[in-house]
Amino acid sequence: MNQSVKLGLRLLAIEQMVTRHYDNIWDCCCDHGLLGMRLLEKQAAEKVHFVDVVESLVNGVNQALSGNPELYPADQWQTLCMDVARLPVSEASTHKGDSHLVIIAGVGGDLLFELVEAIHKANPETNIEFLLCPVRQHFHVRESLINMGMKLINESIVYENRLFYEIIHVARKGREELTCVGSKMWDFSDEDHCLYLQQTVSHYQRRLKSGCEKTAAILQQYQNLR
Ligand SMILES: C[S@@+](CC[C@H](N)C(=O)[O-])C[C@H]1O[C@@H](n2cnc3c(N)ncnc32)[C@H](O)[C@@H]1O
Repeated sequence: MNQSVKLGLRLLAIEQMVTRHYDNIWDCCCDHGLLGMRLLEKQAAEKVHFVDVVESLVNGVNQALSGNPELYPADQWQTLCMDVARLPVSEASTHKGDSHLVIIAGVGGDLLFELVEAIHKANPETNIEFLLCPVRQHFHVRESLINMGMKLINESIVYENRLFYEIIHVARKGREELTCVGSKMWDFSDEDHCLYLQQTVSHYQRRLKSGCEKTAAILQQYQNLR
């Protein structure tokens, strides 16, 4: 029977931010591969690439996909066991100008930014959008993306298992300014967003007490949001 995958709130929110069709979608650090599978089901790309550095995980994804060819036609996906920093973006491009959506979610901010930087450096002229959902370090990730010249396409906030996540969709060819503390994702009529801002402000207030330089300026930016 064709059974579609069920996503938790965070992965569902990421999936819902994929609102157009791409030539290639890269589910990076895919682990179980659920997000990429859902994107395959909704025909969001000509090809979905599942990439993880752990062989047993990639084998598991491979088995799940090949076991259901009706839902996951073999010519619409590939699995790769490798470091995402070496993503073979140009090898997957059949035409100049092919569109790529690189999704990196569920890893810490430092690693996530390292991966984005490596992919961008290796493919400076390629039409790549990044859909990113780091675990913590949102300010730092955003600041680094701004320094790389990334612009905002869309952003949102999601709450799952007592943790808040930001989902940041950017590209060098985006139209809007990306900011370090977020802009259009905030909706202060939403209690969750008020709680997230309050938690973030408290976090930087605690850091300020421990004498961390730069913290006062970061705190001010969050406090200015309201
Ligand atoms: C917590 S899982 C995230 C799964 C999924 N993306 C999500 O958001 O639910 C993190 C995954 O990243 C993979 N990973 C970590 N560093 C990697 C790298 N440099 N290249 C490829 N995969 C990596 C790990 O093997 C692990 O499966």
